[in-house]
Amino acid sequence: MNKTIVILGTQWGDEGKGKIVDFLTKNVDFVVRYQGGNNAGHTLIVNKKKIILHQIPSGIIHKNVISIIGNGTVISLVSLIKEIKMLEKNNIFPRDRVYISPYASLILNYHIAMDLAREKKLNSSAIGTTGKGIGPAYEDKVSRMGIKVYDLNNLHVLKIKIKRALNYYNYQLVNFYKEKPIDYKTTFNELAESADLILSMVKDVPKILYKAIENKNSIIFEGAQGTLLDIDHGTYPYVTSSNSTVGGVCTGTGIGPKALDYILGVSKVYMTRVGLGPFLTEVFDEIDNYFFIKGNESGSTTGRRRRTGWLDIVLLKKAIKINSLTALCLTKLDVLDELQEIKICVDYKISNVNSSVKKNSFLFLYNTLENIIPVYEILPGWNTSTAGITSFDSLPILAQRYINRIQELVGIPIDIISTGPSRNDTIVLRNPFKV
Ligand code: GDP
Ligand code: IMO
Ligand code: MG
Repeated sequence: MNKTIVILGTQWGDEGKGKIVDFLTKNVDFVVRYQGGNNAGHTLIVNKKKIILHQIPSGIIHKNVISIIGNGTVISLVSLIKEIKMLEKNNIFPRDRVYISPYASLILNYHIAMDLAREKKLNSSAIGTTGKGIGPAYEDKVSRMGIKVYDLNNLHVLKIKIKRALNYYNYQLVNFYKEKPIDYKTTFNELAESADLILSMVKDVPKILYKAIENKNSIIFEGAQGTLLDIDHGTYPYVTSSNSTVGGVCTGTGIGPKALDYILGVSKVYMTRVGLGPFLTEVFDEIDNYFFIKGNESGSTTGRRRRTGWLDIVLLKKAIKINSLTALCLTKLDVLDELQEIKICVDYKISNVNSSVKKNSFLFLYNTLENIIPVYEILPGWNTSTAGITSFDSLPILAQRYINRIQELVGIPIDIISTGPSRNDTIVLRNPFKV
């Protein structure tokens, strides 16, 4: 039986990963975040209460679960403390149940200032980032001038590192971006104020995970963002700055690939994207409004309206390969309930040329999208509510046909289907922990 499960996004994020992690966490020992930071917004709805998590893993609602924030993440302490307090207000007490890797990198206020200044200067060619400082924080990590969680242990060294970073960033902020400089004291105090609390949560993450794997504990590795936002495999440069694909689990926690038993890709039955960048199957006007309203498509982190479009099987197949997916979880089936017809993009072709583009050449060209048009298959809608349905057999026949057609096209099993935002609005065809 599987013990270690990865749950990650196959699209541009917001696929419903948080809901599915929370749903599967009932009998789990650990939930681990391995990349990303508070650019993520994972929504859980439990007993009609909505909780949006940004950095704390989505297993936190369950009392016996240990939540781990791995070395591959970037952490904003200001935002993390806010999240801890928000949970405490909801009678969830994370301080003893969240373990943080000492090697995770910190997001400081100058990263946020740089992120915002760059986006402003880029103007119409901006990425559309979440403005949380993610890119600059990962850049610092890679350029080896980042500040790590373990630096909180030595305030003297921390001061030197912050001064060095501010010399570098303030020069750019003032002279190139014509913005205000960042004040040293504010930066230092933000970290010093929460240092003791954060240090009390620091643990040797790989050691804990090796032991858990040896003891056959169950572990969920929770991805943030999605495959198409991956820094290497996504729609560059309109991506985030980490590896949100499966490789990020290993580099971001310290365990090897053979330790992963089962990899679940989460996909909406349509698609959305916040921020800019190519989106071949994007829809506009009436149908976009339908998805926006029925799917409640506003970003969980920034509140921005999400762009919407039809499911793209070519990209989904790419996500299956990159991540070695064992199975898929399809979410938001209920959002399609009122459509007369539903489109699925099954291929691409170059306009004016009556033949399909070879997938590889297409994927290479995706960022320009010049002359590439989607080939759609059209399926009939079911025009009846699937909201909250918990068994496949209770779905309308046309909805079953739609799911079966997707499975046929992608060639891997669909193990879970989500029919609403609440934990229990879920159909389980195969429980990942029981196969
Ligand atoms: P994540 O970032 O992948 O965890 O996804 P988000 O939480 O950002 O966005 C998913 C949104 O869809 C949230 O508002 C969820 O409450 C909601 N959601 C998840 N699954 C379903 C579903 O099956 N049906 C509907 N209607 N909403 C869902
Ligand atoms: P979850 O985990 C959707 C997008 C931003 C922008 C691009 C780069 O909730 O699925 P960044 O701030 O990371 O430098 O922004 O990535 N983005 C997300 N979109 N869901 C997310 O996370 C996202 N995290 C980042 O909108 O297009
Ligand atoms: Mg989200």
